[in-house]
Amino acid sequence: MKESIKNMKAYQAELPAEVVKAKYGLSHLARLSANESVYGPSPKVAKAIKATADDILGYYPDGQATTLREAVAKHDQVDPESLVFGVGADELIQLLTRTVLTPGSNIIVPDPTFGEYAMHAQIEQADAKKIPVKPTTGQIDFEAMFSAVDDNTAMVWLANPNNPTGVFEKRAAILAFLEKLPKTVTLVVDEAYYDFVAQPDATVAQDVKHYSNLVVLRTLSKAYGLANLRVGYGIMQEPLYGVMQAVRLPYNLNTYQIVGGTAAIEDQAYLSQVVAKTQAERKLFQTFLRDNNLNFYESETNFIWVKVGDTKKVGEYLLSQGYQVNDHLNSEWIRIALGTAEDNAGMRAAILTSTK
Ligand SMILES: Cc1ncc(COP(=O)(O)O)c(C=O)c1O
Repeated sequence: MKESIKNMKAYQAELPAEVVKAKYGLSHLARLSANESVYGPSPKVAKAIKATADDILGYYPDGQATTLREAVAKHDQVDPESLVFGVGADELIQLLTRTVLTPGSNIIVPDPTFGEYAMHAQIEQADAKKIPVKPTTGQIDFEAMFSAVDDNTAMVWLANPNNPTGVFEKRAAILAFLEKLPKTVTLVVDEAYYDFVAQPDATVAQDVKHYSNLVVLRTLSKAYGLANLRVGYGIMQEPLYGVMQAVRLPYNLNTYQIVGGTAAIEDQAYLSQVVAKTQAERKLFQTFLRDNNLNFYESETNFIWVKVGDTKKVGEYLLSQGYQVNDHLNSEWIRIALGTAEDNAGMRAAILTSTK
């Protein structure tokens, strides 16, 4: 076994709702710990999956995910031949890492950020340099990130907006950073929460064609409400595109993922409704936090990173009241995904009680 991963811990997945409900004697549990969508996907997704003929089951799926590729290319206005699909953005993170990193190389990530970037680097025997975000705003410290680049740096990862902070960086800031990076360093901008951003200049997807060292990741797990279907994709140009297509498994998406994912992308009216509801709830929640002098970072996502003090105590209390949040990322900050209007109101009341 590789020495570097001998002590690695398994991903802390969510406890099943029924287990939590039984433990706390709850009739209702709001699962707000994994940034899932409480609105679920467009009804057209299940319809399209159910309409798929059973006789496809004996045959391998379309290895190029052609209908999904065409729908995504049209919607994102990118070249269909720049899209690599995966079992969630997770698979793209794994494949990119596997493709680019060699033992002894390093990656640069903000701190905090999505843990998988550093985890996969560790599997490939590469180091992760973690650069703290700016403490007062949670913004990325681009200067410090750039200063950390050395001869062994192979990748820089940016989740934009970032998880768990929810903080968003403008396209201009990312491109200015990319311009300075050596061409040998791949910059991955993970736009898993892009759809929730209310500000202009939210994406660098259309910039990929100008930079061979820029990759953009997207997922249908968040705003599209399809975390269970497991569909994500990367946008990248040659030579990385061709190599990633060769490295990925030939039939990594099955027909239900392709058909369901296509239906989701094609129902933009539904997506707009989800985004509008999420943005309205976010505004309400942040106003509440501000009014009650609770420290948080301005979010452009479907979750908020809030400083509560003793996370274990607050997390446990919220759970006992039927609100499951993520309390295991930091000892002082919790990450709360936005739920239904009713659950968000209940959660606000519970937060007030628990932080007193
Ligand atoms: C920043 C970020 N990237 C990627 C993912 C993984 O998404 P997927 O469900 O598409 O694998 C997540 C999931 O929480 C995330 O927060």
